[in-house]
Amino acid sequence: MCGIFGCLLSNGNASPVIHSSLKKLEYRGYDSVGIATIFDGKIFLKKGQGKIDEVHKNLNLDDLPGNIGIGHTRWATHGAPLQINSHPHFDCTGKIAVVHNGIIENFSELKLELQNLGHIFVSKTDTEVIPHLIEAIMKDKPDFSFENAVQEAIKRLEGSFALAAISSHEPSKLVCARNESPLILGISDNGIYCASDIPAFLPLTNKTVPINNGELVIITAKGYQIKKIRDGSLIERAPEIIEWTSEMAVKQGYPHFMIKEIYEQPEVLRNTLRLQDHYLDLFSTFLDRSTEIFLVACGTSYHACLAASYMFSKLAFLPTYPVYASEFIEQYGKSVNIDSTILAVSQSGETADTIAAVVSAQQRAATILSLTNTIGSTLTRISRVYIGTQAGPEIGVAATKTFTSQISVLAQLALRLAKRRGKISQDEIDTLEGQLAKLPDIVDTTVKTQDAKAKQIAHKYANSKVLFFLGRGISTATAFEGRLKLMEIAYIPSVAFPAGESKHGPISLIENGLPVIFVCQKDDTHKTVISNIMEMKARGAKIIAIIEKDDNEIKEIADDYLEVPQGILGIFSPIPYAIPLQLLAYHMAIELNHDPDMPRNLAKSVTVK
Ligand code: AGP
Repeated sequence: MCGIFGCLLSNGNASPVIHSSLKKLEYRGYDSVGIATIFDGKIFLKKGQGKIDEVHKNLNLDDLPGNIGIGHTRWATHGAPLQINSHPHFDCTGKIAVVHNGIIENFSELKLELQNLGHIFVSKTDTEVIPHLIEAIMKDKPDFSFENAVQEAIKRLEGSFALAAISSHEPSKLVCARNESPLILGISDNGIYCASDIPAFLPLTNKTVPINNGELVIITAKGYQIKKIRDGSLIERAPEIIEWTSEMAVKQGYPHFMIKEIYEQPEVLRNTLRLQDHYLDLFSTFLDRSTEIFLVACGTSYHACLAASYMFSKLAFLPTYPVYASEFIEQYGKSVNIDSTILAVSQSGETADTIAAVVSAQQRAATILSLTNTIGSTLTRISRVYIGTQAGPEIGVAATKTFTSQISVLAQLALRLAKRRGKISQDEIDTLEGQLAKLPDIVDTTVKTQDAKAKQIAHKYANSKVLFFLGRGISTATAFEGRLKLMEIAYIPSVAFPAGESKHGPISLIENGLPVIFVCQKDDTHKTVISNIMEMKARGAKIIAIIEKDDNEIKEIADDYLEVPQGILGIFSPIPYAIPLQLLAYHMAIELNHDPDMPRNLAKSVTVK
């Protein structure tokens, strides 16, 4: 995710403070950096592609004049990671500078409206519409103060934002505002700071003022004023002292990145639902015209592909073939041809096996599409079309938020294809789109209500010698993912296979007390899963069930269960049903004194074959 920072100092230059504060936000992941300050009624700017130290070496980020300024570390979502797309962005006159973290959903129509007014845009970003909107409002309403113009501009924005803006029209004022993306103030004796995250100013002060959704802040030498964006009404909010170390602050108070990222999933899923229409349309055009589609990935990303194959088939009647990237060349290397399409899924975009499979298919003229969390990665550079999952950087080695964001994008693609191919009615489309929109809240409830219970269950089974993970239908993918999570961070040998396969061999492994985890979504497979559970119980297995809330049929036969809110169709179940499995794996690792963020023998990006 991008990082924003702004400050107004009583004494001293702002740019060295902004530079060092942006360094503290590096953990958020980024590909470019920029700073703008105001001095003597003029705006000074330095920005570039690359890491902060590189850009600083080339441009010297410390020597911009002035005691007021804003800065930004950019994690590319719209527009490649290039200097021209880095923040701060400006209006036509160069008198307004803005930095932004989030996604402006309606930026295309705003951009067109502003271009029709004669505004000239230089970047491909969604952010650039903000300074031009402010400029247009200030031109329309010359009696408006800078903060009023910012407030009016923000009312036109749809989507998520944390933004900070300065202007040489009113050089001693910094305005910032929030909708969904995080924003917090720091108050010190020498200045007031606004930032995406506490670590940015923690070395300067531990006096903080949290900013809530729909609030705008005006920072001047006199202090800070918080207003409601909606009606401009003032909000009184005193500073709070936080007792965090800087290491705790980077994890926002969570003990590990993995649990922080599990809790980030509702916000990530909201962002993933804000993909640009034309990317989804372009993608589905390519998929629609393919004669054969291979879904190629490794590890967790492969499980997302496995789930996607059910969605593409059930919704769009489109057959797709999930393939482990490391096996792709052996299995299909010779049969791939110009009519083949490869949809490669990789959160890092650098996994060597996946890249190798894609390059091999490309050499046989196949069409390459990709889904990745890392814009600018190798995979994005070799793909015909790619979509970013907007999950923000994932620090924990175990994939969590990137898995559910991958599934969300693939579900949106399956739905778009179903529409395009005329396979489902408008009513069904409305229902399914309504389901997707509900998922962030469903996941939020699941995380918050099941965490403590997952910890109890983890304590009960942490010393098991082996665990089974079973599912039917699309939950086979969820079961596979739950197994991988447990193996990779708790180091407990685990077995996963479609529940229907048990009687074809694996059931011979069942012994008294062996824990078997069933993923039991409420769909056509529900009845059969119950008989699979009974099969295992009859042989002494302990049943841990991931169920829909108040699924009493299964509650009665399970030894333990974790619940997901009611109302999610089986076709989208991998997203919410993965959450209890992520929590279980996390707490099992803690029970066994393993570091869930950096499991042994593993790397976040496997760049070797
Ligand atoms: C998942 O928790 C693991 N980190 C691993 O299996 C990972 O999914 C796999 O290496 C693929 O990585 P990618 O998505 O970056 O290609």
